Amino acid sequence: MHKTVLITGGAGFIGSCYVLQARQRGERVINLDKLTYAGNLENLATLHDDAAHIFVHGDMGNAELVRWLLRHYQPDAVLNFAAESHVDRSILDPEAFVRTNVLGTASLLRVVTTWWQSLPPLQQQAFRFLHVSTDEVFGTLREDDPAFQETTPYRPNSPYAASKAASDHLVRAFHETYGLPVLLTNCSNNYGPRQFPEKLIPLMLLHALDGRPLPVYGTGRNIRDWLHVEDHCLAIARVLEAGRPGQSYNIGGRSERSNLDVVRQICQILDDVRPRRSGSYADLITFVADRPGHDFRYAIDCSKIEAELGWRPRHDFASGLRETIAWYLNNAEWTEHVRSGAYREWMQRNYASRTEAKA
Ligand code: NAD
Ligand code: TYD
Repeated sequence: MHKTVLITGGAGFIGSCYVLQARQRGERVINLDKLTYAGNLENLATLHDDAAHIFVHGDMGNAELVRWLLRHYQPDAVLNFAAESHVDRSILDPEAFVRTNVLGTASLLRVVTTWWQSLPPLQQQAFRFLHVSTDEVFGTLREDDPAFQETTPYRPNSPYAASKAASDHLVRAFHETYGLPVLLTNCSNNYGPRQFPEKLIPLMLLHALDGRPLPVYGTGRNIRDWLHVEDHCLAIARVLEAGRPGQSYNIGGRSERSNLDVVRQICQILDDVRPRRSGSYADLITFVADRPGHDFRYAIDCSKIEAELGWRPRHDFASGLRETIAWYLNNAEWTEHVRSGAYREWMQRNYASRTEAKA
């Protein structure tokens, strides 16, 4: 019999990629998503007539609904992707992040644990709760610091990172206190198709295509470690399959780049595939006021998942970025739909007060 998985946040950027891969593997997917501004059923359009993808519009913090889903579908695993995920939004509205990422996860854990405790021993042993988290819980690195390991102490700096750290601690605590077989993954920055254009890569790409300024925060020297979303989802599947309960696994692309390098690379690709009438897209690069508390560098040491579980990323950044740009160019309708009135309000709120600054 194929697996049944209950996924929260499966209409978002990473969750939808996982859902599509899970269906290709033949798993039955129960997809619980609240459809916030970041959730988009168009991400799952290819599963429209797929009876083994059961979409449920709801909140992971709705205990009664989650209890019913668990009893009814008897999943072999619960994967928690649902979150508020954007650092800039967390700076402007931290409580929303506590509500979803902390309280939502706490409620989910409690309901899952009570149901899990009622299962027969064999089903109990086989069950897994996998929590998808971020490298941002570890705080920030200097240029020559070693990359984050699973043992690096948590030092979150943004309200987003703090809320994810709190949820990670709850997951660990449910393992220690109740014996829930949990798995935790901490991944670096993802890129790829269907990422909501509030995040660096799609935002710069769409601004460039519109001929608008490319708003680089601060000096643009901050460094992120980029991983293709499909590689992240394959790593999660591998952890679910063979990871040791109670353990956390760092996932990263060994692909550190400064923001300015990433933006320049986007511009170069666009100059190649969609040249402007005159000049380069790089002429649009504009340095703007920095993000408060902006972490300088993230880098992941992923030797544990490589050695224990044999996972390796398949995409390299250069070709992955090129393919991602091609996806956005070929899916203009998707982009138009997500750039609704609410998106325009966000752009105004986050960028209007960031006056142009010299790097
Ligand atoms: P996203 O913002 O694109 O999607 C989040 C999804 O969760 C949306 O579909 C939204 O509707 C849903 N959601 C929000 N609150 C919910 C609730 N209360 N109940 C049910 N559904 C709810 O986020 P993403 O980029 O796909 O990130 C997914 C997960 O991966 C998050 O937990 C995030 O912290 C983590 N992560 C993201 C990155 C990254 O680079 N994007 C890197 C590492 C880890
Ligand atoms: P982001 O995609 O928001 O991811 P995170 O903050 O989780 O790493 O941002 C990636 C980097 O890009 C981060 O250092 C902030 C920077 N950035 C800009 O310079 N300009 C922008 O408009 C955005 C959204 C991000």
